[in-house]
Formats: sequence, C-alpha cells, structure tokens
Amino acid sequence: MDAKNIQCEVSEGVAVVTVNRPESLNALNSAVLAELECTLYGIEQDSTVKAVVLTGAGEKAFVAGADIKEMAAMTSFEGHRFAQKGQRLILFIEKMSKPVIAAVNGYALGGGLELALACDVIYASENAKFGFPEVTLGIIPGFGGTQNLARLIGPNRAKELVFSGRIIPAAKGLDWGIVNEVVPLSELKEKALGLAREMAKNGAIAVGYAKDAIVNGLNMTKEDGFRYESSLFGVLFATEDQKEGMGAFVEKRKAKFQGK
Ligand code: CAA
Repeated sequence: MDAKNIQCEVSEGVAVVTVNRPESLNALNSAVLAELECTLYGIEQDSTVKAVVLTGAGEKAFVAGADIKEMAAMTSFEGHRFAQKGQRLILFIEKMSKPVIAAVNGYALGGGLELALACDVIYASENAKFGFPEVTLGIIPGFGGTQNLARLIGPNRAKELVFSGRIIPAAKGLDWGIVNEVVPLSELKEKALGLAREMAKNGAIAVGYAKDAIVNGLNMTKEDGFRYESSLFGVLFATEDQKEGMGAFVEKRKAKFQGK
C-alpha cells in the first residue's frame, strides 16, 4: 500500500513513523488509520526493527484527533465501524512485540491522545497539549480513550478531562502521569530516539516479553500475572539471547543479541 500520509524511516534498528498530514494537524481519517496500521504491521514483521518512535509532522500537532470533517457525515453504523477501526489500531500497537515511544510534538487531542496512550512511553515537547474534546462535539472518545486513560491515571482525573473536554498543557500531563517526560521541542526527537536506541540494543525477545507481561498482566489478577510472568521468564531460557546475555556477563564482555 502506498502510504501517502505516513512516513517511515529506519536506522540503527529504530523505525521513526510520522503521521504526515500537517495541513489538518495530522488528523486521523480512514485512510490515515489504514496506512498507519499497514506501516506498523510491516514493522512488526521486520526483525531488523527493534523499537519504534511515533510522532506527527510539523511543530504544532502530534495528532489533533480523528478527522471531524470525515466523521461529520457518518451514519451511526459508520461511526461504530470507524471506532472499531481505530480501536483495532490501538490494540495492535499495545500488542506489538516492539516498544513504541510516542514523541508528542504538539496537540494530542481525542484520537491523537488515544494514539499516544497506546504507546509504551510518552515523551512530550513543552508546547504539547492533551485532551479529549469529544463531548464538545457531541460524542465520546471512541478509540479506547475512556478505557485507557482511566486505567492509566484513575477514574476521577479521567472523568475530569473527558467530561469537561478541557485541554491541559504538557506540564499537567506530566503531573497526572500521562507523560513520562517533558522536553524542549528541539530536543524531543533525539530524546525519543535515544530511548528507542537504548531499548533496541537489548535482547529483542526479552523486551517483547517484558511488554507482553506488563500489558497483558494489567488485565489479569495479580496471581495470574505472576504465573504469566514466570512462564515467560522460563521460555526465555530457551533463547540464544539468554545464553549470550548471561555468557557475556560471565566473560566480562558486551552481549551481542541476535533476537533468537
Ligand atoms: N479533524 C479535521 N480537521 C482538523 C482537526 C480534526 N480533528 N483538527 C484540526 N483540523 C484542521 C482544521 O479544520 C484546519 O483546517 P482548515 O485550514 O482547512 O480549516 C487545520 O486543521 C488547522 O486547524 P485550526 O485552524 O483549527 O488550528 P488552530 O491552531 O486554530 O486550532 C486546535 C488548533 C485547537 C487543535 C483545533 O484545530 C481543534 O480544536 N481541532 C479539533 C480537536 C478535536 O476536537 N479533536 C477530537 C476529534 S474527535 C475524536 O478524536 C474522536 C475519537 O475519539 C476517535
């Protein structure tokens, strides 16, 4: 598929994926959703890519939401299908075996915040802004936002944000635990790339299993989560990466992981 609205550049094991529709503040229409899903699916299959940075084109927006102009004419059925399409993308990112870092370089509203929340880490620029303005449009967040935000920051703060439609600055996002770190816009990409490269150097299967344990464990009882963790821990002893990682420690050298 020709990705008109998505750029993807790979170097040093890290894919930088950019939503590139700056004239609409990178709003997610059906075509962007499909292209993003297709790009990330390709990345998931590519064993040379070990980590992903997701960002938006320009200096104003990460993603300013789902495309309101496209949604305005939707029937109830089409609205439902559109939400399902967005949710499929969100769940795909959450289940990817590679870490995904959101570099939020401006507005992350509605579907844009939902996209950021699907990522494993959120770094934001000082000019970034977060919010769920859906109720000001007569709808609710539809790409998993009600579920993911409440799970991340608790129901009360999530309700405050979602019921008011208020837009909060990056500093408050940090204070509320939505954002991992806030940096000047000029440093954002390097900061996200630096973390992605650090992750990419490690045993890829181990990083993927760690993500699996955390993401899936959150939906389990603690005891089931512990059981799941120990199973994954055990499986890793069947990998060459485990032999290499521990062998390198014993031999006092740097490990060279193959992702096998
Ligand atoms: N959908 C479609 N187009 C959008 C858009 C969106 N979500 N956000 C911005 N744009 C377009 C604007 O219409 C404008 O296009 P034109 O020049 O053709 O008019 C262009 O991007 C630039 O935007 P503005 O002129 O509005 O820029 P601004 O600096 O004055 O305001 C803003 C910036 C506050 C982000 C404002 O654009 C805005 O409020 N955008 C909508 C935000 C929003 O409500 N997002 C939630 C959408 S609903 C959703 O996401 C549902 C879901 O959960 C799946």
